[in-house]
Amino acid sequence: MSRELSLAEIFQLGYYWETKILLTGVRLDLFSALDGKRRTAQDIAGRLGAHEPTLTLLLNALVAMRLLSKEGEAYSNSAAADTHLVKHSPQYIGHLLLLHDAEWENWGKLEQTIRTGQRAVDRHVFETDPELGTNVLAVLHRIGQQSGPDFARRLSLTGPVRMLDLGGGAGTNAIAFCQVYPELTATVFDLPATLRLTEKTIKEAGLDSRIALHPGNFNTDNLGGPYDVVLMSDILHYQTYETNAALVKKVLAHLAPGGRLIIKDRFLDEAGTGPAWTTAFAVHILVNTQQGGCYKTGDAIQWMTAAGFASATELEKTAVVQGLKGTR
Ligand SMILES: C[S@@+](CC[C@H](N)C(=O)[O-])C[C@H]1O[C@@H](n2cnc3c(N)ncnc32)[C@H](O)[C@@H]1O
Repeated sequence: MSRELSLAEIFQLGYYWETKILLTGVRLDLFSALDGKRRTAQDIAGRLGAHEPTLTLLLNALVAMRLLSKEGEAYSNSAAADTHLVKHSPQYIGHLLLLHDAEWENWGKLEQTIRTGQRAVDRHVFETDPELGTNVLAVLHRIGQQSGPDFARRLSLTGPVRMLDLGGGAGTNAIAFCQVYPELTATVFDLPATLRLTEKTIKEAGLDSRIALHPGNFNTDNLGGPYDVVLMSDILHYQTYETNAALVKKVLAHLAPGGRLIIKDRFLDEAGTGPAWTTAFAVHILVNTQQGGCYKTGDAIQWMTAAGFASATELEKTAVVQGLKGTR
């Protein structure tokens, strides 16, 4: 059994001041204003068009949070802030923090949502701000590049596999699979706006001869094929149970005999109380999407079984489910 929380830990769970201080620093883009330089509050305020005395309070808090340093009257970025919070750095992750900030107001409506069961948003922020959506996908692509090849290897594919990466985003998985399996060719299916980024990442990876792009809406458009492997990675939690069931059924028709559907997602365990990150993610999806939800691997197995897959199994706990199509 896990130990009881201390009072200090309960306070810490309810504490968000530092979160908003960081997010505001990113919104002001003050880390870019400091990029490798030492500047006074007056200088920074001039560059940002901010009110110096109040900006100073924010800067001092960021020093205490170890994102900035202060020597005399001059502030500078920590090494981590220079790497991850300066806009032109290749490892900038600010877009992801800006997404959290864009969702701030929605979180304020959580109580009302819980009381009424009514969602407070009618569109995901990616629809209201597509540029932010593309920027976030680019950050997720950079982060996902580290884990993609290991995931591909764990599936042990062989031969000239034709793979469909449905809602493939920046092409992170398609690229990783091509790198791990030299005979594999892939199609990334996604919304036309997203594929502009995908085209770029695939070119950068030197894989444009092996990865095709297929623009469309996966719920309503033809998916092409047949494919030996269809991957759905992190797409189903934006949709309802019924829409997912219909999509899984649709995919079966685009698989070759003996082909497989791999669903990789943030599934909840049977009790719904773990993994810990996913339980909070489920609330995030409730607050920030019109109809999304976090599902259990049992749900995915049910979608596959109802669709007519010959078998459906959980390959990795709360993470990966595989459906096999019959050979005839
Ligand atoms: C969270 S991202 C996942 C990206 C990628 N599969 C991965 O694991 O990194 C969800 C992707 O689904 C795409 N998407 C959402 N709804 C879609 C739809 N109806 N048709 C096609 N793509 C869609 C989005 O554009 C986005 O690229």
